[in-house]
Amino acid sequence: MNVAIVMGGYSEESVISLRSGQLLLNHINKNKYTPFEVHILKNEWYVKQENEKFYIDKSDFSCTINNQKITFDVIVNTIHGTPGEDGHMQAYWELLEIPYTGCNFYQSALTFNKRDTLSVLSKFDIPKAKSIYVSKGQNIDLEVIATTLEYPFFVKPNQSGSSLGVSKVNEANEFEKALAFAFAEDHDILIESFLKGTEISVGVLKYHEKTTVLGITEIVPENDFFDYEAKYLGKSNEITPARISKEVQEKVNQTAKKIYESLGMTGFSRIDFIIMNDIPHFIEINTNPGLSPQSIFPQQAAFSNLNFTDLIDNEIEIARN
Ligand code: DAL
Ligand code: MG
Repeated sequence: MNVAIVMGGYSEESVISLRSGQLLLNHINKNKYTPFEVHILKNEWYVKQENEKFYIDKSDFSCTINNQKITFDVIVNTIHGTPGEDGHMQAYWELLEIPYTGCNFYQSALTFNKRDTLSVLSKFDIPKAKSIYVSKGQNIDLEVIATTLEYPFFVKPNQSGSSLGVSKVNEANEFEKALAFAFAEDHDILIESFLKGTEISVGVLKYHEKTTVLGITEIVPENDFFDYEAKYLGKSNEITPARISKEVQEKVNQTAKKIYESLGMTGFSRIDFIIMNDIPHFIEINTNPGLSPQSIFPQQAAFSNLNFTDLIDNEIEIARN
């Protein structure tokens, strides 16, 4: 069975995705599947084989290698950011009728949009930060924001990942720079109140048809918050299992499960929370969580005694059914 392990993407997260793809290539069962390393980059889509590039035919997502046309029976998708985490590729594969892992185009588009995810989750009573949504060119009254949210607060691109474009604003004179930083990533931004508490992150997936919550990781960033540097340049301490009570752990498990199911998810995901006053407050859900050596999801899977050979099998099985 030909399996395309698809990695890359058009955003700055593509470098992380290439690392995630390596984990999948290393662990996929090669007795059962024939894996192909597929790079989807802004200017070129290709299969990489022994350092040679074989370009993808976008009309049917096939590829010709040594005069032989290769089609894929299933796609294992580990693109972070656009176009593989926000529903674009999913819609394209759906039209081509090629099964793919992870959630479908609609759930991908929904969960990649922070505002719309918050809006759906508000129907399910999930605790979260206060937030204000602003589009480029709209008037922004800092005084209203500071009164509504209080300092410090966060400024985030509405659609992005790995904390790219995110800043914490501690005082008024940091606001303009934070706006420019976030608007460089996206046309729309979210300004969110700061939740003081313990940051945790938890992997959730469908495993043999059951929503399964992995180990809970506590994040202790050396920087002011869990930014890009803290995530990938080792500037944070990640502790699995998180140092939280059994009762809070149970609340996290239940809330994570409820979020995953309320959003109709399938596939790997990682949900981030701040525990404030013993209550998990939702920050965001990542539908193609990082699988790089620095990423949290693989640590959580190991903690939960799940190996990636089996997890990839499980993902492929769900995609093909
Ligand atoms: N967006 C990054 C890859 C993550 O959530 O792990
Ligand atoms: Mg994210």
